[in-house]
Amino acid sequence: MADHASSISTSKQKAQPKPNPESRDQRLSSPTPLSAPRRRPAGAMAFWTYLTISVGLISLLLAPFFSPRDQHSWFLSLPPDLRLHFSQGKLIKIHPSYQIPFRVFAIESSPAEFSETVLLVPGLACNSFSFRHVMSALRFHGFRAVAIDMPGSGFSERPRVPGSFEDVFAQIKENGIFWAFDQLVETGQAPYEDMRARKNFSPYGPAEIGFVIKKVIREMKLGPVHLVIHDAMLGSGANFVASYPSLVRSVTLLDSSAGLPAFPYWAVGVPVVGRLILKSPSVFTKLMRLCCSRSIDMPAVESQRLLLLGKDGRKGVVDMAKALNYSFDLRQWKELDGLKEMPVQLLWSNNWSDRWIEEGRQTASALPEGKFTYHSGGRWPQEDNAKEITERIVEFVTSLPKTIRMIINEPSEELEEKVLEVNTGSSHQHEHGHQFGPSLGMYGLGQGFMG
Ligand SMILES: *[C@@H]1O[C@H](CO)[C@@H](O)[C@H](O)[C@H]1NC(C)=O
Ligand SMILES: *[C@@H]1O[C@H](CO)[C@@H](O)[C@H](O)[C@H]1NC(C)=O
Repeated sequence: MADHASSISTSKQKAQPKPNPESRDQRLSSPTPLSAPRRRPAGAMAFWTYLTISVGLISLLLAPFFSPRDQHSWFLSLPPDLRLHFSQGKLIKIHPSYQIPFRVFAIESSPAEFSETVLLVPGLACNSFSFRHVMSALRFHGFRAVAIDMPGSGFSERPRVPGSFEDVFAQIKENGIFWAFDQLVETGQAPYEDMRARKNFSPYGPAEIGFVIKKVIREMKLGPVHLVIHDAMLGSGANFVASYPSLVRSVTLLDSSAGLPAFPYWAVGVPVVGRLILKSPSVFTKLMRLCCSRSIDMPAVESQRLLLLGKDGRKGVVDMAKALNYSFDLRQWKELDGLKEMPVQLLWSNNWSDRWIEEGRQTASALPEGKFTYHSGGRWPQEDNAKEITERIVEFVTSLPKTIRMIINEPSEELEEKVLEVNTGSSHQHEHGHQFGPSLGMYGLGQGFMG
């Protein structure tokens, strides 16, 4: 896992050559250097010809559905408290190892003075908004609370796999229909050819999500944090803890199981049916009460529904579910270097189903030194009983030695990252322009969108 982390940072060096549409004509008329390495250019050319033509046709047919206007009206259809939530958070740019940057949403709620930071990682199909009550209660107890929307959930963008249909679509939309040919002429290789070879890659894999969590901690200068992992994010959260143990003070598992997400992602994943479920507030409410929380209130259900309905949130959830680590082993994880001393707490529902209570017992038996506590909420207990959840977290965190906050955590690694960024020429300043304060431009909005 440490290997993976270092491969992520070093791969920044091989930055993708930025296509420049203006210089296209020039480049096509100048002879291509014969010495350039070539791999079956004819086959690749045919592939791109077909792909470009089909993408061109499809984009003509689908253009109305992808317009920024839709994003804009979707955003304005959100309830005011959800829009307020968005305006209070920030979008953080992630540069993953597979090169296509995307932004994740994170929100912070903190008193002026604090010593402990609690980082909330919402489960599958869940998001930071669902933890709004827990966050304000934590702040009331004098803690800084931060919640992240996982990639493809809530207000976070969906990561794109290079070379996937979707990515080609986006690139062609952005850079013009000749982009793929330009790349071929320029490099003698179709774009992302090596990427297409890595068939099983998912940008939602545990290591990729772990990298996102680390990036958010770094950018918001949070570390070391008390991590709260909810629901099916167990595999990804655990991967993060194992990769960067120095950034974590304690781990709380909130009804968390790597292979048993509460939300029925498969139902919303079915093409027509999935959309119908999300289109119907009453059906969706029944679904939420069945799967996740018996006492979730109507405004929360509605926010949840609209977040899944907009911005293609459905696909994000299904892709995330596919990439979960279904063979994750908690016992094995706790044996890893640096984790033996890690304080772990297990918060589990005693009021959901016999099967779920049994799952809790088994999880607890994998963590014999961990603290095990029941709560009376459901599988999304932050919606049922935020007060109780918060009190359990506060008790646990305050039972540990106080965190001494350092100015910079792990200065050597931080420095290394800076050096890499200088090498690749991607300046920090440019990045910061996008990061802080949500860019309202994301939904085609200017000032005064709250009204
Ligand atoms: C999935 O879980 C297994 C068992 O704990 C672990 O060995 C493996 O590294 C995990 N995979 C990822 C990608 O984290
Ligand atoms: C379980 O939940 C129900 C309904 O939400 C509630 O009436 C009951 O008291 C709860 N039971 C326990 C043991 O907490």
